[in-house]
This record gives sequence, C-alpha cells and structure tokens, in this order.
Amino acid sequence: MEEANQSVVHEFILQGLCNSKELQIFLFLSFSILYMMTVVGNLFVVLLIITDPHLHSPMYFLLANLSFVDFCLSSVTTPKLTTDLLKDKKTISFGGCMSQILCVHFFAGGEMVLLVTMAYDRYVAICKPLHYSSVMDRQKCILLVLISWIIGFVHAMSQLFMILELPFCGPRVVDSFFCDIPLVLKLACMDTNTLGMLINADSGILATTCFIVLLVSYTYILLTVRLHSESGASKALSTCTSHIIVVVLFFGPCIFICLWPVSITWVDKFLAVFYTVITPLLNPAIYTLRNKDIKKATKKLLNQHVKSMGQ
Ligand SMILES: *[C@@H]1O[C@H](CO)[C@@H](O)[C@H](O)[C@H]1NC(C)=O
Repeated sequence: MEEANQSVVHEFILQGLCNSKELQIFLFLSFSILYMMTVVGNLFVVLLIITDPHLHSPMYFLLANLSFVDFCLSSVTTPKLTTDLLKDKKTISFGGCMSQILCVHFFAGGEMVLLVTMAYDRYVAICKPLHYSSVMDRQKCILLVLISWIIGFVHAMSQLFMILELPFCGPRVVDSFFCDIPLVLKLACMDTNTLGMLINADSGILATTCFIVLLVSYTYILLTVRLHSESGASKALSTCTSHIIVVVLFFGPCIFICLWPVSITWVDKFLAVFYTVITPLLNPAIYTLRNKDIKKATKKLLNQHVKSMGQ
C-alpha cells in the first residue's frame, strides 16, 4: 500500500558541469572538437589495423579493440554532456539513466580486462618469444577479446541489478553530467549504505585485480628486458612504454579518487570529464604517435590517397 502512495520518478535532472553561460559555450566548443577527434582517431586506428595486412597480429588486433571500446565509452556520455551544455534544463529519462550506467560499466570494465589482455600478449612476446606464435594464435586472441567483453558485461549487469529496483520517489537532481552510480544512489528513498558498499566493492575488486595483475606483469616484463638487453629489447621496450602510459592514464586518476579522503565535487567532475572525454582520445594518440609500424602504415595510406587524388 505504501508503495502505491509514492510518486515514481520518470526522469532525473542533471546538474551539469558549471553554471556560467560563457564557460558552458566555451566547453561546448572544446568538447565538440575533442569528441570529433576521439571518434576520428579511434575509428582510424581500427580501420588502419583491419585494412593493413602488416598489422594483422594479436597485438594490433587487441589495440583495435581498445580503440573501439574507447570510441564506445566516449560516445555513451560525451555527446549528451556536450549538447546539454547548451540547454537550460538538462534532463535524462529513468531508462536513459539506467542505460548510461549499464554502458559505462560495460565498456569501462571491458577496457580494464582488455588492458590486462594486452599485458599478457606483451608478456608472451617478450618473456617467451619462441613460443609467441603458438601461444597467441588467432583463436586465443579471439578468446581473450571475448573474455574481456563477457567480464565487462557481467560486471555491468551486476551493477545494474543492484540499482534498478531501488525506490526513487522524491529528489531527482543528479549533481553531475551523467548518471554516476554513487550520485543516483543518494536519491533513492531508502538506506543505501550497505548497497553502496556492495556496489563499490563490485567495481573495486575488478579494478584492483586488474591493476595488480598489470603492475606485476609490466614489472616482470621490464625486469626481463633489462636482464636481456640485446638488440630486440629496445624495440620491445618502446611498445611496452606505450602500453604502460595507457595503463597509468587509466588507473592513475582512479587510484587518486580512491585514496582521496574527502569528496570534492569539482574534483569528481574533473575526473569524470577526464575519463569520458580525455582518456579515449589519448589512447589512439599515444599508439599512433609512438608506434613505428602504425606510423608507417599511416604514411602508406596517406600516400595512396594523395596518389589516387592526383590521378
Ligand atoms: C577485436 O579482436 C578480434 C580478435 O583478434 C578481431 O578479430 C577483431 O577484428 C577486433 N575488433 C575490432 C573492432 O578491432
């Protein structure tokens, strides 16, 4: 009976990033440009790797998948964040909010496991070079990618199930630009302390496990490279450095959030923007600018285009 009395929330109001009109227009322009660069950059990396036979190796297939995930991850929040900047009333439907939660956790969870997969690939390539082609064959590669997607999906579904059935009855202002679980949890009309801890543990365990595995594998790889510093080692080190930069960019802010004792709204917002707008753009940039093979393939592709336009 009591439930029938409660009004049901059909949409949430997003507080957005800031209140100043001028700043919002400036951010609108910046985010539009950054988002376009993210889309073009990531899809370019995917297309380059799929079309160039020289790049048909497990490392590049995994990289293509990473770029694809980055493209998806930024597409979940950035377009809405950007267009909302121009609106006075920023709303999101209940369904939209839940889909955002599902997708963000799906792609972010998948990306974390994919980073572990890439570390495993580098581990085999550098520490067991003679077995590389037999260990990392096409099937293994597809299996690893599949596992990343499945873990991402299971993680996202578990998060969604915990929050979907909550009673939302009154307050509906989310103080962010997207439906972030802790902020949505605050709006539920019941005590959500235990649930909040469960939800944090769910994300925390996945992130911590991935981070520790990554830390151990890259430390091991770097030690191996140092011990056998022959000709091949410097090339191995250079590809590894790109991987490590990406891992630091992904987990650095995350650790910062976890260790930061108090929650300051602007820090949270800044980090959320960093994850959704900046990180997905940096990954393709790091790989295309640092990787010789990718640079070569890009030049070849551009040359072909210039030639075909000249004819
Ligand atoms: C992801 O990896 C798989 C397995 O190697 C590959 O076949 C596929 O083309 C990749 N997907 C994308 C979008 O790059």
